Amino acid sequence: MPRLVSKKLQASDARHFVGDTMFDRCARATCAAGVNMPKKELLENWTLASMIHDRAAPPARVVDVASGHGLLGWFLLALCAASRRPNVFAVDRRMPDSAAALRDSFGEAFPALPARHRYVVADAADVDARGGDTLVLALHACGGLSDLVIDAAVGGGASLCLVPCCHSLKTAKMAPERLAAARRAVDGGAGLDEALDGQRVAYLEERGMVVDATKLPEDITPKNTVLFAAPGVAAPRSRTTAVPIFGAAPRALPRPPSAWRSLT
Ligand SMILES: C[S@@+](CC[C@H](N)C(=O)[O-])C[C@H]1O[C@@H](n2cnc3c(N)ncnc32)[C@H](O)[C@@H]1O
Repeated sequence: MPRLVSKKLQASDARHFVGDTMFDRCARATCAAGVNMPKKELLENWTLASMIHDRAAPPARVVDVASGHGLLGWFLLALCAASRRPNVFAVDRRMPDSAAALRDSFGEAFPALPARHRYVVADAADVDARGGDTLVLALHACGGLSDLVIDAAVGGGASLCLVPCCHSLKTAKMAPERLAAARRAVDGGAGLDEALDGQRVAYLEERGMVVDATKLPEDITPKNTVLFAAPGVAAPRSRTTAVPIFGAAPRALPRPPSAWRSLT
C-alpha cells in the first residue's frame, strides 16, 4: 500500500524550510500558523507575490480582494520588508480563523509587518480603490467576482493583478455583447477560460488600461492566468473579437521540498 502523505500543510512541514531565504522564513511562519491549507497554496501565493514584487516598486496601498486567509498579502509585505510600502488591506466578505492565525504567526516572525496590514470584512462590490498609487489584486476570484475586482481597479484608477477562477458564462458579470462574443469564441473552438479572459482584457483596454497577461506555472495550479493591468496613456479602443492574450513566459517555481513534488 502506498504511503499516505497529507496534501495539507502541517506545522511539522517547517522542517523542510530551515534556510534563511525569505521564502524559507515565510514558509516557516505559514507552517507555524497551523492553517489547514493545501500545500500548493504556499507555492502559488509565493509565486504570485514574487511576480508582483519583481515587476515594479511597491505601491502605497495593496487591496487584496477575496483574500480568504490572506497569505498573499503577508508574503508581499515580507518581500517588501525593506521598504516602507505597501500597506495591505485584505478584503473578504468573511474572515476565516486562519487569517487571525496567520497574523499572529507573521507578527512573531516579522514584528514590523502587522502595523501595515488590515483585514476588512466587506463585499468586493464595495471596494473603493480611489486615492492613487493602489494595486487591486485577487487570487482565484471565482466567476463574476473577477469582474467585480476589475471594476474596482478601473473605477479607482488603480493597477490590477488578477488570477480569475471558476470561469462560467452563467456567472461572469459582463456586458451582454461581451458574453455573446465569448460564447462565439467557445463555439469556434476556444477554451472557456481564454474566451472569457480575452473579453476581460478587451474591456480593460477599452477603459484605457495597459494589460500584460501571463501565467503561473501550470504545475502549481491549472487556473493560472494572471492579468496585470495599469492605467496607461494608450488610446482606449473598443473590440470584442477574441485575440491571443498571453505575452511573457511563466516564471520558474521556487523549488518545493522534494517530498512534495508529486503533490503539486
Ligand atoms: C477561492 S477563495 C480565494 C481565497 C484566496 N484569494 C486564495 O487564493 O486562497 C474565494 C474567496 O472569495 C470570497 N468571496 C466570494 N465572494 C465575495 C464577495 N462578493 N466579496 C468579497 N469576498 C468574496 C470568499 O469568501 C473566499 O474567501
